[in-house]
Amino acid sequence: MTIERDGLLTAAPASPAETALEQAVRPRRLADYIGQPRLREQLEVFITAARRRGEPLDHVLVHGPPGLGKTTLAHIIAGELDAGLRQTAGPVLERAGDLAALLTNLQPGDVLFIDEIHRLAPAIEEILYPAMEDGQLDIVIGEGPSARSIKLDLPPFTLVAATTRAGLLTAPLRDRFGIVQRLDYYAVTELTDIVARTAAIVGVPVDAAGAAEIARRARGTPRIANRLLRRVRDFAEVRGDGHIDLPMARQSMDLLQVDAEGCDDMDRRYLACLADRFGGGPVGLEALAASLAEDKGTLEEVLEPYLIQQGFVARTARGRVASAKTFKYLGLPPATDLFAG
Ligand SMILES: Nc1ncnc2c1ncn2[C@@H]1O[C@H](COP(=O)(O)OP(=O)(O)OP(=O)(O)O)[C@@H](O)[C@H]1O
Ligand SMILES: [Mg+2]
Repeated sequence: MTIERDGLLTAAPASPAETALEQAVRPRRLADYIGQPRLREQLEVFITAARRRGEPLDHVLVHGPPGLGKTTLAHIIAGELDAGLRQTAGPVLERAGDLAALLTNLQPGDVLFIDEIHRLAPAIEEILYPAMEDGQLDIVIGEGPSARSIKLDLPPFTLVAATTRAGLLTAPLRDRFGIVQRLDYYAVTELTDIVARTAAIVGVPVDAAGAAEIARRARGTPRIANRLLRRVRDFAEVRGDGHIDLPMARQSMDLLQVDAEGCDDMDRRYLACLADRFGGGPVGLEALAASLAEDKGTLEEVLEPYLIQQGFVARTARGRVASAKTFKYLGLPPATDLFAG
């Protein structure tokens, strides 16, 4: 089960139109990838080294919350390697033959991008092991007494896999990636640069303070920053002269009910549950999940990271605890004895 966040602050892509727009503004080279300095520096070294040796890059796993640039990175890796990109996703690969066909059709050096790799069926995951490790395809053809196993040599390739749920990956799969990169939420300054870059590409006049205000409400997430920019642009064109400055950005986002903390209804439900129903905690993840009727893995890996990073919630040995900031945010009287455990 996934958390449905209808609305502006949804980190998942909202519509096919948005996906098309994203493709238009997606950075193509590592140098245009804003933020994530540590990851960029490491990848630059690994990619240069692989290119010099004329070898494929090690298999790469990119994990992190939605909308932070995993798919973008897969495209950039293929671009920097001057390699072809074949793209698929865990839930799309239903039968062993689907993956076998993809693998045998790769050109030497190609990048195979598997999105949502945590949703790969176990039987298909097993085909991936020898393919990743020895460049071999090992499959059984036919059924019953006439079944036979065949081995095929595959062209050298790089698997780039993305997931929002790294915790769901099996250890044998995770161990087969030579490069594992975690994407973190972006700083406001980085998101400001992303807003300015997107605005320049789509031709929206936005000043520095306007871009920064959009960045502040974007939950550390480039996808949300770009979406807010498009909505604020609508207001600027209809209610103003098309320019986005600080008052225009503020006024539009207040009208859009995008909270200054970058929180949406789902966050508020979670925080209210923790602070109000459970008195601020400590409360176990299971109890919170049951009370919200949400999947506990999703709470832990999709919802909580931003709230923890923002200092609303802490994970302690005894459970989740709401901070004073949460009580203030919800307009509740501060509880005593919080963060005591
Ligand atoms: N580092 C970045 N610099 C500039 N723009 C970025 C960056 N990262 C992401 N973006 C923008 O954000 C949009 C969303 O990124 P992307 O689709 O790569 O996210 P994702 O992590 O794959 O999300 P999901 O988990 O939903 O698949 C892209 O269209 C891109 O324009
Ligand atoms: Mg993606």
